[in-house]
Amino acid sequence: MIDPTVDIHGINDYIYGDEWSRLWQTHFAKRPDTEATIRRLAEWADGGDVLELGVGSGRVAIPLAAKCRSVYGIDTSEGMLRELRARQGGQQVWTTEADAATFDLGSMRFDLIYFISWGLQMLLSKEAKQHCFERVAEHLRPGGAFVVEGMHPEGYPFGSGGLGTLKIDRASTILNGEVHRPQDQVVLNSLIFLVDNELPRVHTTASHYVSTSCLDEMAADMGLSLEAKFGNWECEPLADSSPSMIRVYRKAGPDV
Ligand SMILES: C[S@@+](CC[C@H](N)C(=O)[O-])C[C@H]1O[C@@H](n2cnc3c(N)ncnc32)[C@H](O)[C@@H]1O
Repeated sequence: MIDPTVDIHGINDYIYGDEWSRLWQTHFAKRPDTEATIRRLAEWADGGDVLELGVGSGRVAIPLAAKCRSVYGIDTSEGMLRELRARQGGQQVWTTEADAATFDLGSMRFDLIYFISWGLQMLLSKEAKQHCFERVAEHLRPGGAFVVEGMHPEGYPFGSGGLGTLKIDRASTILNGEVHRPQDQVVLNSLIFLVDNELPRVHTTASHYVSTSCLDEMAADMGLSLEAKFGNWECEPLADSSPSMIRVYRKAGPDV
C-alpha cells in the first residue's frame, strides 16, 4: 500500500550527506557513458566557460576542466564537494555550495550550463524547476546552451512497488524498490545495500517530474528554446519508449 502522506521534502538532503557520498563514489561514480558525456559536453562548450549544477564528486566536471577555459560546479552537499576537491584534478574545478533552484554567482556568465544524472528530478516541485530555469537563463551568455539529462516521463516504466536488482558484484548486491505517486508526479526509490560483513543500509530518494512539453514551456518562458533532443550521449534519436532523455536549450544569441 502506498502511503500518499510521506513527506518528500528533505529526503534527498539526507542521502547526499557524508556517508552517502562515500557509498555513491563506491557504487555509482563509474558510468559506461561517462566518456561520451564528456565528449558531447566539450563540443557544446566549445572551449568556453562551463557551469555544472549538482556537480557531485566531479565525475564529469574534472575531465571536462581539461577541455574548457573554466569549469565551475555547484552542489548542496558539502560531502560531495569534499570528495570532488580530494580527487586528482579536483582543484581545476571551482566549487560553491549552492542550490540549483536559487544559485546566484554574481556577474559570472557561462557558455554552457548542464544539469545531468536526473538533476532536475531532484528539484521536488514545478516551482523549483521554474526557478532553476530562471537562474540558468540569468547566468548564460547570449547564445549559450543549457543541457539537461533526466527522466523521459512519457517512456519511463514506472514501478509499482516491486523490488528490482540494480547491481550485483562479488560481495555486494543493491536492490531498488520503487513507488510511483502519479497524483503529485513523484517517484520514491529505496536503495537497499547488502554488503558482505556489513549491516544492511537503506537510502530513500525522491524524484519529481513534469511532462516534456511542460519542461519545454518552462524553458521557453525564460527565453530558452529547445534546440535538440536525444535518447543518449551518443546523440541517438529520442524514442517514444526511452526512459531517459537529453535536451539542449539555447538562449538567443547577440543581435548582429
Ligand atoms: C546523482 S549525483 C550526480 C553528480 C554528477 N552530476 C554526476 O553526474 O556525476 C547528484 C548530485 O546533485 C546534488 N544535488 C541534489 N539536489 C541539488 C540541488 N537542489 N542543488 C544542487 N545540487 C543538488 C547532490 O548533492 C549530488 O551531488
